[in-house]
Amino acid sequence: MNLKESVGIKAASYVKNGMTIGLGTGSTAYYMIKEIGRKVKEEKLDIIGVPTSATSKKQAEEIGIPIKSIDEVEKVDLIIDGADEISADFQGIKGGGAALLFEKIVATYTDQVIWIVDESKMVDKLGEFPLPVEVVPYGQEQLFRLFTKKGYHPSFRKEENKLKVTDSGHSIIDLHLKQIADPKRLAKELDETVGVVEHGLFLDMVNTVIVGKQNGPEIISS
Ligand code: A5P
Repeated sequence: MNLKESVGIKAASYVKNGMTIGLGTGSTAYYMIKEIGRKVKEEKLDIIGVPTSATSKKQAEEIGIPIKSIDEVEKVDLIIDGADEISADFQGIKGGGAALLFEKIVATYTDQVIWIVDESKMVDKLGEFPLPVEVVPYGQEQLFRLFTKKGYHPSFRKEENKLKVTDSGHSIIDLHLKQIADPKRLAKELDETVGVVEHGLFLDMVNTVIVGKQNGPEIISS
């Protein structure tokens, strides 16, 4: 079993009958959704899933997890999601899979947030992983120039040589920052930048991190 699979399965053990579960996105969340699907089928686990991307929705539907959109539920009990980097003080970068907007919206209306990662994602400070910024296409070249001027080393996310388009029709600009000295200050700055829809800094959000290690998953509470 690989590390992503081990944490995906471990996280699924937090899911109990009657819960509404945010279903994250990515190669680690894939295993969690797969395991929840198995429990729904084999153990008659009775839950509602709230997917955070078209990809997770498709996977959940295919394996028979009942789903609702974020607007159809009162609130979400628990979201289980991957992350790209988690710092020593439990701040995160997400969005490597371009699903950051829906992931952040669902996490915002969720009681408990669990991130599942292999140990390579645990870092001292954030920033080595390029920070995804989701932007409105109108004016995106101006934003790109602004980020260049600020020394943020932007690059447009591409897929098959075309600009990546997110589930909500936006573009992604990745900022190659190497190290983020003050994540809260940067988050505020990006929040206040016109044309930015959302960014991949997920601050003060996670309750529990499950880290995949060779000798088994380690559970850390923030
Ligand atoms: C999706 O946009 C992301 O936030 C993912 O949760 C994150 O990139 C982790 O993905 P992996 O589990 O594939 O590394």
